[in-house]
Order: sequence, then structure tokens, then C-alpha cells
Amino acid sequence: MKKQLKILDKIGNNVFQESSEIQNYIMKSETSRLEKFNKTTEKKEGVDRYNEFFTPPEIVEELLSHSDIIDSKNFIKVLEPTAGFGNLVSGVVKARTDILDKGTYIDMIEINPKNRNVLQTLFVDKDPYQFNLLETKNFLEYQPSENYDLIVMNPPFHLKLDLNRGIIDRDMWDIDFIIKAYDMLKPGGEIMGIVSAYLSHGKQQYKKWIKNKKVQIIKKYEGYKWSPTLEKEERGKKSTKLILNFHLIKISKPE
Ligand SMILES: C[S@@+](CC[C@H](N)C(=O)[O-])C[C@H]1O[C@@H](n2cnc3c(N)ncnc32)[C@H](O)[C@@H]1O
Repeated sequence: MKKQLKILDKIGNNVFQESSEIQNYIMKSETSRLEKFNKTTEKKEGVDRYNEFFTPPEIVEELLSHSDIIDSKNFIKVLEPTAGFGNLVSGVVKARTDILDKGTYIDMIEINPKNRNVLQTLFVDKDPYQFNLLETKNFLEYQPSENYDLIVMNPPFHLKLDLNRGIIDRDMWDIDFIIKAYDMLKPGGEIMGIVSAYLSHGKQQYKKWIKNKKVQIIKKYEGYKWSPTLEKEERGKKSTKLILNFHLIKISKPE
């Protein structure tokens, strides 16, 4: 009987050990499935919902090289209204590295909490005097207390109402962001922007505004292969690239 109990005990222990190993295995694979799911959802939310396409460095450089304001003053107040990971912000800083006695103050707005964390770490934590991540998350609700010399922007080309209820009350286009930004410029100020090739979106009131404000197209890109917000190792993979048509624009506000 003792022997039998010993054998049963041993079997019991083995069974217990095996079942906990199986449970561990299931939990591990569930966690990794969940992580994968969360990552995909995050990506989908970034791209589909917020139109997250971060500006590649060569486009940043090209855009800012056409600015009349960027290196013309010692003191400059800048706004990046849809800042993403801050690629345009880095471009502004780089373009002003040679200016002596410079004061470059940059306000950043961003709606996606994930991107806000990046902006906080990359810029604000390093230099809270130069960089400011505004409390306002939705640029479309922003009312500045002081206007800007320069606004650099690559706004969402099309924010869909369906995916953004509670944030917007109709579909919003890049031109809506541009029009709002224009009102935040000081006299003599300038917008340097990246917009879709169809900026008026076929609407008469937008066409009128574009003509009235003398929006200059600096450069047109057709069929540009653009990777949205993806991890480094995924950038460059063919399947992750979108073909985009877009323009670089400049708008100068009269003195
Ligand atoms: C096309 S990406 C450009 C990001 C960055 N400007 C760049 O050039 O790399 C658009 C960014 O706008 C943000 N965004 C979308 N809607 C917004 C809103 N209403 N207010 C502020 N940011 C917004 C997105 O999360 C995304 O980071």
C-alpha cells in the first residue's frame, strides 16, 4: 500500500508539473498573441485613424530649405501642430544650428498619446526651455495666446468622421488644418507645409482660399514611396510602403 501511495504521489507530481508547464506555454503564447494584436491595433489606429505618416528626413530638409524665415531671425517662435515623432521639429533645430545668439521656441501639438510620449522624451525632457508639448491635444481646438513666426506642418490628409467621433464633427482635410494654422501666423509669418496633391479637394471655397492667400507650390512629388509609422526594421519593406502624391507648399502672411 505504501509503495502504491508513493507511485500515485509521483504520478500526481508529474501531472501537476506537466499541467503547469502546459499552462505556462499557453499563457506565453497568449501574451505574445495579445502583444502582436495590440501592436497591429496601435499601428492601425495611428495610420487609419490619425493618418500617421512621418516625414522622411530628405523631405524635411527639402521643405525647410525653401523657408525665408527659418534662419533670418535670432528669435523665432515656431508651431508644429501635428507633431508626430517630431521629424519637422528636428529639421527646424538642425536648420538653425548655425545661428548665433539664437532663440528657437517650439510649441508642439499631437493627439496620439503614444506619439506624445515620444515628443516628451525626445524633446521636452531634454530641453524644456526650447520645446513645449501643449496640453491641447487636438489642434483643431487650439487657441494660441500668441501667434507664430513659422508654422511647419504635415497634417493628416483626411481625418474621417467615422473614426474620430468626439474629436471632429465632419470629415476634416489637410486644408482645414492649413486654414486654421494661417490664422495663428504673425504678420510676415510663414507656413511651410506638406499637403496632398489635391489640396482643394475639389471644393470651391477651398480653391478660393488657396488663390486668395497665394499658396505657393514649391515642389510636387508623384508616386513617392512612403512608409507610415513603423518600426525601423519594417521600414524599407516593400509591402509596408504606400505610393503618395503630395506637394510642398509655402504660405507667407503679408506684413
Ligand atoms: C502625417 S502625420 C505627420 C507627423 C509629423 N508632422 C511629421 O511630419 O512627421 C500626422 C500627425 O498628426 C497627428 N494628428 C492627427 N489628428 C490630429 C489633431 N486633430 N490634432 C493634433 N494632431 C493630430 C497624428 O497622430 C500624426 O502624428
